[in-house]
Amino acid sequence: MLRRRVLDSAFGAGHSVRSLSTRASDILSKFSIRPDAELKGVYDGTWRGSGEVIQSICPTTGEVLANVRTASPAEVQETLAKTREAYVKWRNEPAPRRGEVLRQIREALAAKREDLGALVSLEMGKILTEGVGEVQEFVDICDYGVGLSRMMNGRVVASERPGHSILEMPNPLGVVGVLSAFNFPVAVYGWNLALSLAAGNATIWKPSPTTPLCSIAVTRIISQVLEANGIPGAVASLVNGGKEAGEAVVESPGVELVSFTGSERVGRIVGQNVASRFGKVILELGGNNASIIMPDADLSLAVPAVFFGAVGTAGQRCTSTRRLYLHRQVADEFLGRLKTLYGSVAVGDPLAKDTLLGPLHTSTACDVYTQAVEKLRSLNADIITGGERYQRDGLQGGNFVQPTIALPKSVNPKDGIWSTEIFAPILNVAIFDELEEAIEWNNAVPQGLSSSLWTRDIRNVGRWIGPAGSDAGIVNVNVGTSGAEIGAAFGGNKSTGWGRESGGDAWKQYVRWSACTVNFSDAAPLAQGVSFAS
Ligand code: UN1
Repeated sequence: MLRRRVLDSAFGAGHSVRSLSTRASDILSKFSIRPDAELKGVYDGTWRGSGEVIQSICPTTGEVLANVRTASPAEVQETLAKTREAYVKWRNEPAPRRGEVLRQIREALAAKREDLGALVSLEMGKILTEGVGEVQEFVDICDYGVGLSRMMNGRVVASERPGHSILEMPNPLGVVGVLSAFNFPVAVYGWNLALSLAAGNATIWKPSPTTPLCSIAVTRIISQVLEANGIPGAVASLVNGGKEAGEAVVESPGVELVSFTGSERVGRIVGQNVASRFGKVILELGGNNASIIMPDADLSLAVPAVFFGAVGTAGQRCTSTRRLYLHRQVADEFLGRLKTLYGSVAVGDPLAKDTLLGPLHTSTACDVYTQAVEKLRSLNADIITGGERYQRDGLQGGNFVQPTIALPKSVNPKDGIWSTEIFAPILNVAIFDELEEAIEWNNAVPQGLSSSLWTRDIRNVGRWIGPAGSDAGIVNVNVGTSGAEIGAAFGGNKSTGWGRESGGDAWKQYVRWSACTVNFSDAAPLAQGVSFAS
């Protein structure tokens, strides 16, 4: 039986756009967002916005949280120009000084960690601890960027010519366009901003049109730090808007790097567009991530990890677990235990302390969920649990769906039910006999973001992480598919796109590399002993 959290009666029937639930108004007031005001969604040193109005809709209650003025086409162009001007100044700041500004941004964000986490939860719909965790991720990557600001080192290469040195120099790249998705409305921008600022770039952020408030709150915090340091605010500019605003950023020849998070369909367009003008691109697209459970797995760890991976964030992480491959020997026991956890999940207001499952972000996402379940049913899949929308008291206004486990008849990973990413808490299960078969299934889908193997046998680990192992960008052992830390490079392969964000060597994409051969000698010999004397 699903335990459900009855939502605060304050957002029951009868409220209007202008009389928000206390639940919402309390959080918005922390950011001085008044329900009756129209917010400016553009920042380039000053706040403005004269384009169309978008509404921020609460996924839990359906109420309109705020109206936001987006950027008009002219304002997007003006902001692009301001961002470039800001870059031209910012690039001359010494990197450790840039790091100091980033440190102050980190402090300002940390001071607002709980409030901002609550805003993420309110506007995006993820549970509070995950909302706060997302802000923590931004804080963490700022720390990382501060360190990097003293460590973005080039190299000195041995020259074959006497009296010569070759320097491989990282310099600032230019303007970085960040197009982020609704599911991580704060952290993914943070990954890009921190590296970009440390590298000496200016950033223009086009957030998801459904999470404008998070973008405004974050930009307000950052802009105050920039302005207090006498740095042009357009170093971290913001354009709220729809498809056209995104296209303008993607197509602008003045944006050296576009970092896009979103669907494979849109990512393909973005990638082609940026490539056609020889820009650089980081694409973080679909994930269709599998967990593989071997017979020697510690089920007391593996079952909760799969539960978190599949149900956490209501299945709306790019790294969510969507496929579960169970070894025949443990399949029944694993599914029994997993089903028990699914049956006890607390559904409801993501801001309430004990809730584990909040709403999907939009009502359209509920339709996608319903269609996916119908498709599974039409193919005679066994729906082990879930499969319906919630129609209970107190949950009518929100986009609530039951977390679902399905056992499709087909195990062929090329079939649409296995090969398509559905951004909802639906977990498809198949049973295997040999690890090789499970790895083959893991790799047979178009996407390649995250993957997870549960075993205590070192030989399985070797196979999994080696040349014939998982082809995903994230290859975990006894760790679920989601919940990556900032220290490692984050990103995928195949149709997940290419490029890495966050840790590892990701920063190297945010700089312009020059090979500088310097001649300290009194001769000018040519390389390879070439003679060109007349
Ligand atoms: C995403 O879902 O796009 O690994 C980002 C994780 C998070 C980031 C996910 N740290 O789940």
